[in-house]
Amino acid sequence: MLMQFIPLNRINPRAVSDIQAPDLVKKALKRSCYDCHSNQTHWPAFAYIAPASWLASGIVTSGRTALNFSVWNQNKMAKIRHVISESPDHQQLYYLWKPDAQLTSKETKAIREWANLTTLKKNIPSIKN
Ligand code: HEC
Repeated sequence: MLMQFIPLNRINPRAVSDIQAPDLVKKALKRSCYDCHSNQTHWPAFAYIAPASWLASGIVTSGRTALNFSVWNQNKMAKIRHVISESPDHQQLYYLWKPDAQLTSKETKAIREWANLTTLKKNIPSIKN
């Protein structure tokens, strides 16, 4: 049984590994954004709480189209910064249904700092770490 999984892991290495971010940031994004913005939607927990019709409405599909952490691209950074800093009401309904997924203020701050630093490093190559 176990052997069946081994080739799969090889074909699809860690989907998330493309994001170069501190652990706190990665974990926060996973918990808070991945249901809609990655190929790692946690359907059971999610579907249990939210009405199926709302789920079926394609939010996840359009979320993935807008931003997919599983297919990471550095250019998404500015958009993430924008959502984190200026759209505190992004997908509010989801967080009402799944309050555990809401970012804490500490996480928000960490993500913002990570995004700022990453953008800075990209624009000013002489900055290291
Ligand atoms: C309930 C599903 C859902 C969750 C959870 C969610 N999003 Fe989204 N997100 C969407 C949808 C749908 C869109 C496309 C429509 C829009 O822009 O609102 C989107 C769009 C975006 C965009 C693109 C905006 C643009 O201007 O192109 C970014 C960036 C984004 N989300 C970041 C995040 C981050 C960061 C989190 C976690 C803190 C998050 N989202 C959580 C559904 C979600």
